[in-house]
Amino acid sequence: FGYLNYLVKRDRRFIADILMNGLHRLEYRGYDSSGIAFDGDNIEENNNNKRACIVVRQKGKVEELEHAVKSLENIDWNGEFSIHVGIAHTRWATHGEPSAVNSHPQRSDEQNQFVCVHNGIITNYKDIKQFLINRNYIFESETDTEVVIKLVKYLYDKHKNENIGFQKLIEMACSQLEGAFALLFKSIHYPGQLCATRRGSPMVIGVKCADAFGSNHIPVMFSKDLRGVFSPPLLITDQATTDLTVAGNDRSIEYYFASDASAIIEHTNQVIFMEDDDLAVVNNGTLTIHRAQHEVSGQSTIREIIELKIELQQIMKGNYKYFMQKEIFEQPESVVNTMRGRVNFNTKKVVLGGIKDYINEIRRCRRLILIACGTSYHSAVATRQLLEELSELPVMVELASDFLDRNTPVFRDDVCMFISQSGETADTILALRYCKQRGALILGFTNTVGSSISRESHCGIHINAGPEIGVASTKAYTSQFLALVLFGLVLSEDSISKEARRNDIIDGLQKLPELIKEVLNCDKQIRDFAENLYEKSSLLVMGRGFNFATCLEGALKVKELTYMHSEGILAGELKHGPLAMVDDTMPIVMIIMDDPVKTKCMNAYSQVLARGGQPVLICNDDDEELIKIAPRYITVPRTVDCLQGILCVVPMQLLSFHIAVLRGYDVDCPRNLAKSVTVA
Ligand code: G6P
Repeated sequence: FGYLNYLVKRDRRFIADILMNGLHRLEYRGYDSSGIAFDGDNIEENNNNKRACIVVRQKGKVEELEHAVKSLENIDWNGEFSIHVGIAHTRWATHGEPSAVNSHPQRSDEQNQFVCVHNGIITNYKDIKQFLINRNYIFESETDTEVVIKLVKYLYDKHKNENIGFQKLIEMACSQLEGAFALLFKSIHYPGQLCATRRGSPMVIGVKCADAFGSNHIPVMFSKDLRGVFSPPLLITDQATTDLTVAGNDRSIEYYFASDASAIIEHTNQVIFMEDDDLAVVNNGTLTIHRAQHEVSGQSTIREIIELKIELQQIMKGNYKYFMQKEIFEQPESVVNTMRGRVNFNTKKVVLGGIKDYINEIRRCRRLILIACGTSYHSAVATRQLLEELSELPVMVELASDFLDRNTPVFRDDVCMFISQSGETADTILALRYCKQRGALILGFTNTVGSSISRESHCGIHINAGPEIGVASTKAYTSQFLALVLFGLVLSEDSISKEARRNDIIDGLQKLPELIKEVLNCDKQIRDFAENLYEKSSLLVMGRGFNFATCLEGALKVKELTYMHSEGILAGELKHGPLAMVDDTMPIVMIIMDDPVKTKCMNAYSQVLARGGQPVLICNDDDEELIKIAPRYITVPRTVDCLQGILCVVPMQLLSFHIAVLRGYDVDCPRNLAKSVTVA
């Protein structure tokens, strides 16, 4: 997170608070250590601008950093700045354990002449490190990031007499980097300037200028091939023939830089999503976006200021204690938002604007390949059967990392579908590029407008679940599930033989929000089950058919949040191994819906009972036959078989939530995990 104020008077306390608040908003992305850099006192008496740079870093959550900053001594918190640059970071360790010295900002030297914060991984850091060590640079951390900032210092010293600008310096340094990064730089040698760049990791810039959009002018300049005609909202087109500067050097303006918009939205809804290899520089209050020297072919040369539609309250907890809890309870609305404007319940028609120009091409394809990680992968597993049924195409479901490891053959007539809440998961993006290179049609299913996956796809569907902050995905899962169902419906709309089935599903969709509400009413009952389970060390979740994915997803929720061992087991595989784990002490949840695989599930149930198992059942509320014989059960209302998984996953979400709370764990920030895994 970065904040720059220009000709707006802000005191140090205000600046520190803005940085801290930005970190709190981003904390869900990574939270094992954090740090900030802001200005200290003047270091040259005659030069008002040249100020010391204070760096504070702390292991642990952002709260710990806040304490450390508050207890700094000899700081004039009321000291005012009309121009100031602050940068901050919350970390999820990849290279080097969580510790103060491995936290960011990383620095060039003890005077903090150059400091930077970084997301991603620099893959050639060892070579650069050796190069610098050979030149007597001493490293204090184990991070890959430290090489970046020391390289900047090396280049600065080397070119000292040439008086090169900050932008040029950063451009030179970044041209040496391999891997993935989003970086923010600050330097005592370039007061009031901030550089930001990205390759592979997301970065968004928020612009707040008191009368920017009223007066049609905003101090933003685009250079090189990014030329533009500006009108609110700022749109840069290819039409102009010369570089364009809309100057406003004496206007007050504030810029916010962040890995995602949730840290910016409370300040401004006017944002620019940076593209790979963009180098953004603010100097004298003017933002310039440069392209790095080597052009990435096929990339857009248009940057626009987008007006974000998310509201602050969407990223606040409201009356809930945890984001995850809020997101579970939001599902009756989030599924409506996924369907909004797409499903006409009267005419039984589904329209997906994002793919409508590609529908014929999709229908003619050789196969559908669904690729994702984590929970998003489970949404693909959950809908595979329906997609096979409705499209009559072969459907492959792949974990992005494994798909890449296998160098899976992909062909021009394949349709590759990438499902990702964040749209920024590194493995999924790499798989996307792999498929794109082989000529396949790329469809993105994401929850994040402007994300890498949504931009790099040929077409796609925004799942519109609203911001999801809890690390363990809940409402994004049900919305992904739903978006994939809608996709299947669109694919089959010409098929008369499937009309009755389609109509049933569409009727089911209409009732879904109400039914989710009914399931949420079981919260208290599920908490009681959690009371019995929270001290156990294991939980098996069994089912099959449309609900196999529910088992996988339920078990993943339990693992992520409660750190208990948990496995989602295909009931058809029970006899081939998992049954050995069953005895009268092993906690088990079995999902038995009144659907075509019920008889088979009942067989599995009998086998579990015969081994002394005492499973809790998740079953239909009108399945009296089962309710009569089951000693312990949670019921969910009946819906169409292929949608039942949306209802069945909710008790599993609630169960894992309550177990985690009872165990005293931080539900929103499970240990060792991050919301968005932007490293492969
Ligand atoms: C991380 C998150 C999971 C998520 C997975 C894929 O592991 O903790 O909740 O399912 O990434 O993320 P994506 O944003 O691609 O859906």
